[in-house]
Amino acid sequence: MGDPPVTVVGIGADGWAGLAEPSRDALRDAEVLLGGPRQLDLLPADVVAGERRPWPSPLVPALPGILDELTGRRVAVLASGDPMFFGIGATLARITGPERLRVLPHPSSVALACARLGWGSEHVRVLSVVGRPLDALRRALAPGARLIVLSAGAGSPAGIAALLTGAGWGRSPLTVLERLGAADERIVAGTAAGWRGGADPLNVVAVECVPDDGLRPLGETPGLPDDAYSHDGQLTKRDVRAVTLARLAPRAGELLWDVGAGSGSIGIEWMRAHPACRAIAVEPRPDRAERVARNAATLGVPGLQVVTGRAPEALADLPEPDVIFVGGGLTRDGVFDACLRALRRRGRLVANAVTVQTEALLAAAHAEHGGELVRVQVALAEPIGRAAGGSGFHGWRPSMPVTIWTYEKGDEP
Ligand SMILES: C[S@@+](CC[C@H](N)C(=O)[O-])C[C@H]1O[C@@H](n2cnc3c(N)ncnc32)[C@H](O)[C@@H]1O
Repeated sequence: MGDPPVTVVGIGADGWAGLAEPSRDALRDAEVLLGGPRQLDLLPADVVAGERRPWPSPLVPALPGILDELTGRRVAVLASGDPMFFGIGATLARITGPERLRVLPHPSSVALACARLGWGSEHVRVLSVVGRPLDALRRALAPGARLIVLSAGAGSPAGIAALLTGAGWGRSPLTVLERLGAADERIVAGTAAGWRGGADPLNVVAVECVPDDGLRPLGETPGLPDDAYSHDGQLTKRDVRAVTLARLAPRAGELLWDVGAGSGSIGIEWMRAHPACRAIAVEPRPDRAERVARNAATLGVPGLQVVTGRAPEALADLPEPDVIFVGGGLTRDGVFDACLRALRRRGRLVANAVTVQTEALLAAAHAEHGGELVRVQVALAEPIGRAAGGSGFHGWRPSMPVTIWTYEKGDEP
């Protein structure tokens, strides 16, 4: 006989009363019950007799030891709602292997919220601010978007309302859904700008995004307007940025190094491409590095990691990248070689050159390693002569050409 499975039981705010029979059986049958104190307290002592062990804090590092110690015993783990949805289930599955885990889900807080609001869950974007920065919400703001935010506690609704209001989405209807499923469930509706209330710690926040008059919501694709960024001129401009991102071709889960990050726009738009995209911006000037972090927060990707340092030295201890973009510093000794070496097999490297010297370097790299060289020049129509005064004549003002080298590494290390 193998070890008994670890049974994970999802439980709602209605406690024992809301549990289905298989979940009740698993809890009655357990020798040891693990869970948060609030969830353990939901179990009637006269029916559930197993030993109760509240989670230690911090939980995750302690889990392998706890499960090891309990091998061979009948263990039930309590989790809120659906244990596989922003819950402990996936972490447990990594430790025990999915075959040793038996999961009995309860409706998630999002399923309950959608039921109360009449929203189709497939059209809702779910975000969590549990242990994550609020700024990530900014990436999801789009006219008409329906968001459900898993709160970190009683303060989250006010924080979310303030962020929305500050970002120009104050008119958005905002609903705080507290203690869903419990006898004292409460639902409070208002707008982000009008939100004043406190909240029960157990809540989720639903938002229907409505922009203020005059706000220009950002688009989904790369090539955000230049004025979406704070910058000191060190910014890959909109059209070239869009072409560069097309060449970088972000894919979910990949890690980008943005070497010579300037204002951070390449790493930021890389991360905006998919919530699982990760990026490290490397920038030697502390004032610019700070600006990169500020831009990342404002544009909804606060997870962008910023390294203040000069390549190649600053690259030495960074995790292996899938893709590297070099926007600055390429003529510095060792930068090019360090980037090529660091890149994983089949990884991609894109480098932009504006100066003759960097362009020469890219031409040499192209001759030696292959890949593709393109040159992009953008011209903007601007008023000329008396046009500013109303004559209506415009001329093309060319910006400096940018040479882009795109390279994919082979199978060699
Ligand atoms: C770490 S997540 C876990 C989600 C959970 N696995 C689920 O399926 O709902 C916890 C989030 O759900 C919210 N939550 C859990 N139960 C709730 C309830 N009955 N009513 C409102 N929000 C609830 C918490 O406030 C928190 O934002």
